[in-house]
Amino acid sequence: MKKIALTLTVLLGTLSASNATAFDGDAEAGKVKSATCAACHGPDGNAPVTIYPKIAGQHADYIYKQLKEFKLGMTSGGSEGRMDPVMSAMAMPLSDQDMKDVAAYFSTLNMSAGTTPEDVVEVGQKLFRAGDAERGIPSCAACHGPRGNGTSLAQFPKISFQHPEYIKSQLEKFRDGTRANDLNGMMQDIAKKLTDKDIEVLSKYIGGLH
Ligand code: HEC
Ligand code: HEC
Repeated sequence: MKKIALTLTVLLGTLSASNATAFDGDAEAGKVKSATCAACHGPDGNAPVTIYPKIAGQHADYIYKQLKEFKLGMTSGGSEGRMDPVMSAMAMPLSDQDMKDVAAYFSTLNMSAGTTPEDVVEVGQKLFRAGDAERGIPSCAACHGPRGNGTSLAQFPKISFQHPEYIKSQLEKFRDGTRANDLNGMMQDIAKKLTDKDIEVLSKYIGGLH
């Protein structure tokens, strides 16, 4: 446990140092450039179809990182970055500045609320807050924060209020390695320890966490 805490401290230190400068996207310009995104992510960044993630209120650095990696996923034929046939194609025409601008824009919007079904509150909350030491699962809150809001400094995404269907799909992708753009494989290592039931419960719990 001491070792994990130490690794986290070092990691957070490194990540914050590399992100010490303020995010330099132009939200006004991003608003204009975001018109094409609305088809799937909704006009206000709160995707009406739940297989598409909400991107309103997500941290700008995280959005920017994902866009760069979606593009890299396509240009590298899936061997690097984050590959999704639909979203990688959308990232292809974006310049570095476009990515920064749309990231800045969506980060200024508010993510719409979600709800947690009663029957997953107890188990979901325990796993989210404390993890499961016996199975080597760390607390999700350790990185994503007690409210699941993440932190822009370390590029930990906001996950609370996200669509459960999308959360579930990402945990499954981290588990089977289809998504491997997480620094040091930290999400993949965790997802490999999650059962289908854990993923089901966590996704529903996080969807309404606030
Ligand atoms: C045709 C539908 C479609 C359009 C249009 C689209 N996206 Fe996406 N987007 C997706 C899908 C599908 C995913 C999830 C991919 C996956 O499962 O990894 C996604 C994921 C994302 C993510 C990752 C979110 C996260 O939480 O990790 C970001 C950021 C994003 N899109 C931004 C944009 C921006 C900016 C635009 C406009 C330039 C855009 N998208 C246009 C379908 C779309
Ligand atoms: C050691 C830190 C750490 C811990 C602990 C952690 N995460 Fe993550 N998580 C990350 C990072 C970093 C990313 C973003 C990876 C990237 O850059 O694409 C992420 C991404 C995610 C995503 C994808 C979000 C999106 O919008 O696509 C989900 C869902 C997620 N984590 C859920 C969880 C759950 C559930 C737990 C607890 C079982 C957990 N995480 C524990 C660091 C962590």
